[in-house]
Amino acid sequence: AGSGKFFVGGNWKCNGTKDSISKLVTDLNSAKLEDDVDVVVAPPFIYIDQVKSSLTDRVEISAQNSWVGKGGAFTGEISSEQLVDIGCKWVILGHSERRHVIGEDDEFTGKKAAYALSQNLKVIACIGEKLEERESGKTFDVCFRQLKAFADYVTSWENVVIAYEPVWAIGTGKVASPQQAQEVHAAVRDWLQKNLSAEVASATRIIYGGSVNGSNCAELAKQEDIDGFLVGGASLKGPEFATIVNSAV
Ligand code: G3P
Repeated sequence: AGSGKFFVGGNWKCNGTKDSISKLVTDLNSAKLEDDVDVVVAPPFIYIDQVKSSLTDRVEISAQNSWVGKGGAFTGEISSEQLVDIGCKWVILGHSERRHVIGEDDEFTGKKAAYALSQNLKVIACIGEKLEERESGKTFDVCFRQLKAFADYVTSWENVVIAYEPVWAIGTGKVASPQQAQEVHAAVRDWLQKNLSAEVASATRIIYGGSVNGSNCAELAKQEDIDGFLVGGASLKGPEFATIVNSAV
């Protein structure tokens, strides 16, 4: 762990039912979460209200996506204003599943981040390379290109957390080694310093995502530039998620 307060987000993706989410919320409400950690969960849109009204205020709520601008005639979309209205504080943008399954590009993602920030949502900005990009030595190129697209539109980084999620590690059980993750996190921080400022580089939290679980989190959390986690599968289990939240303490 390095700069800023440790940050752990649970990205529930397109999982859950009213019943399973009610159980997860009960587990989270009774879990011991250390004080010095920002904890955020991102339920599917339709369950945000249920979670907001039943989950302890200790845990903030994030959306998993938001529309690129003001709401209106955009069938199937949810606007930043609506997310703020129901009590969301955060939104995840640029997740690899949005980029590579749904097909959202760098520019669209950068614009979404700027719009969400303008509406006072905080942003978890995701970047990360695919397996073939890593194998052909393009990891840094891809991550820097995705970062630059955020930086082209985002003017203040105060409310941004960067999530490095190598695509090959997401949902595969193949976690990046602490060294692999640290190498990219350090490079991202260096990019922020060279292209934005020393202040942004030291203040911005860079969190890791991709097959983080209760057993591998402690080693990762020890790395100098790993400031927290974005957790998928393991965030659906309350006690394991609590272990990850408490891993840096
Ligand atoms: O956003 C979190 C995520 O993509 C990682 O998923 O299931 O590998 O922890 P998972």
